[in-house]
Parts: sequence; structure tokens; C-alpha cells
Amino acid sequence: MTLRLARTVLAAVLPFLALPPAVAQEPVKVGLILPMTGPFASTGRQVEAGARLYWNQHCQTVAGRPVELIVRDDAAEAASSRRLAQELVVRERVHVLAGFGLTPLAFSAAPVATQSKTPMVVMAAATSSITEKSPYIVRSSFTLPQVAAPMGEWAAANGLKRVVTLVTDYAPGLDAEAWFKKTFEAGGGAVVESLRAPLQNPDFSAFLQRVRDAKPDALFVFVPSGVGSSLMKQFETRGLKEAGIKLIATGDVTDDDILNDMGPAARDTITTHHYSAAHESPENKAYVEAFGAANGGARPNFMSIGGYDGMRLICAALEQTKGNTDGDALLAAMKGMQWESPRGPVAIDPDTRDIVQSVYVRRVEERDGQLYNVEFDRFDKVADPGKAN
Ligand code: DHB
Repeated sequence: MTLRLARTVLAAVLPFLALPPAVAQEPVKVGLILPMTGPFASTGRQVEAGARLYWNQHCQTVAGRPVELIVRDDAAEAASSRRLAQELVVRERVHVLAGFGLTPLAFSAAPVATQSKTPMVVMAAATSSITEKSPYIVRSSFTLPQVAAPMGEWAAANGLKRVVTLVTDYAPGLDAEAWFKKTFEAGGGAVVESLRAPLQNPDFSAFLQRVRDAKPDALFVFVPSGVGSSLMKQFETRGLKEAGIKLIATGDVTDDDILNDMGPAARDTITTHHYSAAHESPENKAYVEAFGAANGGARPNFMSIGGYDGMRLICAALEQTKGNTDGDALLAAMKGMQWESPRGPVAIDPDTRDIVQSVYVRRVEERDGQLYNVEFDRFDKVADPGKAN
């Protein structure tokens, strides 16, 4: 063979030699179950946008396998969450279940995770006991005791003596009510009345009238994401602000998704929470910019960060198992994992499978003509206190 011919042959053969072996890499499937329609659709939108952002940036393939996100709308109906979880596991053969916008929806789907040994990453719902409903649940959001206990401590330490609590009447509200009271009273304060408003179509006016009559130093509130606007409006129109009653709350009330539309009524509200779009760090600045760019300028709220970090948790676990999707292997990889989130440093407690994180004390202030939760104090490495019970 002449040298020229050898070169020609080599040139023809080389591209084929360089090809990877023709084994199709099976996709890893992640099923996101979220309220995409109905009264809690903003939660679904924010969680999905956060999860998609992380996926776009870092997780389209992991350990050589493509990663597929499958989104299903449970419209905040608990029966649908369970049925969709079953369908995703049995028909779509998803390797991970994720999402879960409200506590009853997570409770409903939990047995499916246990029976099928499928990791279930709770990205939103925040009642303490959720992680106890299945050994396959890991949480990337927060818990109500985790943010309400620091509020009670802060309120007692900052001169508040008599407080009325007002929460939405379901599991996370009862968690918030109990843990605020516990730490506030341990610090010397007194909860003089505990009010509960319904989850469906709440009208706060009668409750707020009672608060006005009780003349406490402050009103402590928990309502789920998206509901804070009407509470805030009625707090002002019922004259509570004018009467000098302070508004303190978990950060669910001054949700970044709706805060800017609340107007001046929201100003000076003090809240405790794990995420603010105004959190000052290079990681958060990049997150807020990327989220806005991908979502028509929208501001990410605390629900989005549960989606973003939850997706990160799934991908990091898959990297650690080198693409092995066995449920027990993924759970083992998730336990004890820690990373720097846009919200600050976080870790998964290997015993409770709940997230350990900083909880910030924030005040609603105007920055560049927009309302933000501006952090001014911080509790570090807060685990869910509800688990000690
Ligand atoms: C839950 C829902 C919310 O929208 C929120 O802000 C906190 C908790 C829940 O149902 O667990």
C-alpha cells in the first residue's frame, strides 16, 4: 500500500473509530407533581421555573445519561397527587418523584414513594412531619417550625409583650402557631389569642377586627404562598397599622412573587424566612438574574429556591452514584449532602432528611423603587425543631 493510499484509508476509517460505542444511554426520569392550575398555581410556576433553571444550567445530562423532567398538574387536589405519583412510577417509570406544593399533597403521595422505593424530593410543602411519612422523602424547602421558632425568639428579645397569632387552619399553620408561641413565651412574651382562618377563600376581615379590639403589640401571621396580598390589604384598611399594631410573620406572607404589588401597606413588616430575592451574595445575584432572564423578568420567590436546590440535590446524588438510579442508593447519596445555595449554606440532615439552613430576619423596605425583604439579622444552621418532639 502506498503511503498515499494508507492515508486515504486511514482518513476514511478514523471518524468511525472515534465514535462512542453504539449503546443508547437510558434517560433518568424525574417526575414533578405541582399545582400548575387553581388557587396555588403560583407555587407550581415558581417551583418548576427553579427546577428548570438548575436543569438548564447544570443537569441536562448526568454521569453520561440524559435527564428528563416530566411535569404533571395536580391542581392542588390531594387525590390527584397520589394518582399522578402512581402513574409516573408505574407507567412512566420515573426514577425520582419531586415537587409537592402543599402539605396535603405531599401526605397523599408519600405511600407511593414508600411502596415503590422511589426518592421523593419535597420542594415546597413545609409541615414538619412530612419527612416522617416515608423514609424516601427528602426536603429541599424549609419547615414552618424552622422559621416560626426564630420569629418568637426575635419578637421576645425585641420588646414585644402581647401578641395575637393568625394562621391558616391546616397543618403548616398549626406548626407555625405552636412554634411561635413556644419560643415567644419562653422569652417572656404572651400569646393572648390564637386565630385560625380557612384555607379555601379566606376572608380575614372578621379576624382582623378581633385583633384590633384585642390591641396587642403585634399580630403574628402565617398564610401560604400567594395569599399574603389580601391579608396585607385588609390589615391596612381595617386600621390595624394605624392603631400601631405591628405585623410580624413568616416570610410566606411577604412572598417575593407578590410583595411588590402589595404597595406601601407591606412596608416595615418583619418576617423570618430562609430566602429573599434581596439576599446579598454573588450566588444569589446570579440566580436572580438568570431566573429573570428565563422567565420574562419575574422575581424568584422562596418556592423557586426549593425547586432549584431540589434539582441540584437530585443531580448531585446521581453524580455520586455514577448514574445508578436505585432508590436506596440515591437516598444514601442525598443524606448529609451540603452545598452553597443562593439562599446561603445548606445541608441535608442525614437523620431527619430535612434541610438545615440559615433563617434570616427581614424588614420590607424599598430598594430602587421596589419592595424587598431586606435581611438584617440571622440564625445560623437551623435544623427543624419540630423533629425534637
Ligand atoms: C405550605 C404551603 C405554602 O404555600 C407555604 O408558603 C408554606 C407551606 C404547605 O402547604 O406545606
